[in-house]
Amino acid sequence: MTSKQLHVAIISSPGIGHLLPVLLLGHRLATHHNLHVTILPVITTATSPALSQLLTSFTTNLSVIQIPAADISSISPPDASIVTQLCVMMRETIPAIRTTVSSMASRPHVLIGDIFATESWVIAEEFGIPKYVFVTGNAWFTGLFTYSPVLDMQIVGQYVDQKDPLEIPGCKPVRPEDVVDPMLNRDHETYGVYIKQAIGVALADGMLINTWEDLEPQSLDALRTNEILRSVINHKPVYTVGPVIKRHESHVLKNEVVEWLDKQPERSVIYVSFGSGGTISVEQMKELAWGLELSKQRFVWVVRPPTEQCSDGSFLKAGQSGGPDGCPSGPCGYLPQGFLTRTEKIGIVVSSWAPQVEILNHRSVVGFLTHCGWNSTLESITSGVPMIAWPLYAEQKMNATMLTEELKVAVRPEVLPTKKVVGREEVARMVMDLVEGEEGKGMKVRVNILKEDAKKAISENGSSYISVCKFVEDCWSRIK
Ligand SMILES: *[C@@H]1O[C@H](CO)[C@@H](O)[C@H](O)[C@H]1NC(C)=O
Ligand SMILES: *[C@@H]1O[C@H](CO)[C@@H](O)[C@H](O)[C@H]1NC(C)=O
Ligand SMILES: *[C@@H]1O[C@H](CO)[C@@H](O)[C@H](O)[C@H]1NC(C)=O
Repeated sequence: MTSKQLHVAIISSPGIGHLLPVLLLGHRLATHHNLHVTILPVITTATSPALSQLLTSFTTNLSVIQIPAADISSISPPDASIVTQLCVMMRETIPAIRTTVSSMASRPHVLIGDIFATESWVIAEEFGIPKYVFVTGNAWFTGLFTYSPVLDMQIVGQYVDQKDPLEIPGCKPVRPEDVVDPMLNRDHETYGVYIKQAIGVALADGMLINTWEDLEPQSLDALRTNEILRSVINHKPVYTVGPVIKRHESHVLKNEVVEWLDKQPERSVIYVSFGSGGTISVEQMKELAWGLELSKQRFVWVVRPPTEQCSDGSFLKAGQSGGPDGCPSGPCGYLPQGFLTRTEKIGIVVSSWAPQVEILNHRSVVGFLTHCGWNSTLESITSGVPMIAWPLYAEQKMNATMLTEELKVAVRPEVLPTKKVVGREEVARMVMDLVEGEEGKGMKVRVNILKEDAKKAISENGSSYISVCKFVEDCWSRIK
């Protein structure tokens, strides 16, 4: 490193979902902007094996100093939500982070933290360096998130019971049914943690958001120019750094799914996956299977065991095989009887991992039935693949709304899948619309435009590239 190289330290809270975007951002800053980047991942025993695997692909240009998470078993109620536990864990780990930062041979000029790392702002203050938050969600979410403390004062009663959409200054209003998880129940402990987190985020010296100008012009404009929203984020700058995403690498090892795709006609296959944590009910899985079969379209389905795997006796009867404890073993245990045989010519079912980026970039793939995690959403957009938006959790409902109503690159079931089982006819109709319908063609055109925009945004002199240059410039001016 040279004396003129900006050194940023990025703190990531535990969980691959937080660490991966942080690593990708770090990689981008190091390779495209020549920054010296140190990643400080807070790790728990549960995350460390997955972490070491992930880190091997990033070792070339990033320094990584792992920080063991504080043991919170004695202070956090065991039934606390994940959000609460993460916040408590990050708070209790501050002394360890402080020790690490102060013992670094070359002291960072700047601290960046994810939205769970806001308690670490004190460390930046102690060392007299600026602190920035990296929001891995999108700008519309950032608007809702940072404005939540105001909504908290304005709105009486539960958000989900409101008649009118929630107004976020300058942004598209948020439907009460679309609010993020922690806002679902204001009486729950998580809500208080969430509001505190939102206040912490606004105390950063600026925000880096995983989005780009052409994707969310309205929300970005609001965060930068709307006086009310500006005052909520203390008039701090907003930088776009997205899409921060894993690149498609064509040289990956051959995989069973990719080999199968190679043999299918161009633009003929629907890819179905609910993400690493996503599971659906037994009943929903059956309807989805019947729907795929009815549609007569080709598919790749990443099937994870249903939610109530062993609590619902009814599905065992329909299953074909049983494990030692009476639980079905493998997908044939919870898919409709004979489904695999009937669809063996047109579909492939994988039970765990599939190379998602490679699949989405395959010429045979025409659509993605997705849970709308921001990760998957970005991967689909940057691969030019239209979607069937199937949100599983509250966080994903805004994503689904944005994809279907604003960007118009996805179709979605009429009633939220979290509220009602989506029937087989509706599944079949959505799949057919996507593969064969006019709607599918329009979505394909729009998603390809976004794909090109995304590519431009992060390439040299693109909007996100320039935004990061501005960030670096602003950092230097705060340091001097
Ligand atoms: C995001 O996608 C990558 C694959 O590109 C996967 O390894 C990672 O676990 C995903 N993260 C989340 C939060 O789903
Ligand atoms: C989209 O979903 C992800 C979770 O997968 C979440 O982190 C992000 O904030 C969501 N965005 C919106 C606008 O809800
Ligand atoms: C980016 O902009 C700089 C300065 O205007 C210019 O010198 C450079 O050639 C541009 N790069 C590309 C790839 O357009």
